Amino acid sequence: MEIKTLKNYKELSSTVADIVEYTLTLPEPKLILPTGSTPLGLYKELVNRQLDWSTTTTYNLDEYVDNTIQNQSYRYFMMENLFKHINMDDDNIYFSGDTAVWPDLSYGTEVDLCLLGIGGNGHIAFNEPGSSFESETRMVDLTEETIKDNSRFFPSINDVPTQAVTMGLKPIMSSKKIILMANGKHKKDILEQAMYGDITENIPASVLQTHTNMETFYCD
Ligand code: F6R
Repeated sequence: MEIKTLKNYKELSSTVADIVEYTLTLPEPKLILPTGSTPLGLYKELVNRQLDWSTTTTYNLDEYVDNTIQNQSYRYFMMENLFKHINMDDDNIYFSGDTAVWPDLSYGTEVDLCLLGIGGNGHIAFNEPGSSFESETRMVDLTEETIKDNSRFFPSINDVPTQAVTMGLKPIMSSKKIILMANGKHKKDILEQAMYGDITENIPASVLQTHTNMETFYCD
């Protein structure tokens, strides 16, 4: 499994934007999308390209449960950074917290492209260390490390929700193509463990080594 190191964050964002742009030319494309800081440059680039999203369906990887802080839901994040700027049909936007969509995602919707970030502990979506490679979409408790990581977006650490609904590793792995993005030196070590180390449920992202159509992009 190769880690492709790009010059900078701009190049990382435009490289992945090229792959998304191609995917949008497929008939009725289906994409799985992440939130977080890593995809912000990508979403900006996609908005600038003014692509046609009218037949696209998107599934977001995760959503907090019982979030009380306004404007910190992942739905809000996606609306602000992508959806409100493109011609998506609202009926084609799904979040893992929408219970109605769980069965579809659990039984392997034909997703063309799944985009992922990686957490400091090797999580993908909110599949924390110890998650089964066979896990389906479900409600999970967030680890202390993830709550601490996410506290930068909240007034205080006590405001960070402690639970989320996450797409499972099994539906993620059933995507036809997967791109993992990592931005910053602080991600390098966990990325190398995930891509070059043992395939273990202690590092959920390591399951990606077993996918046959997967690319990893990194920049310092
Ligand atoms: C968010 C998600 C998470 C993030 C990961 C990295 O939807 O699925 O797994 O991708 O926590 O977050 P950032 O990009 O903020 O470093």
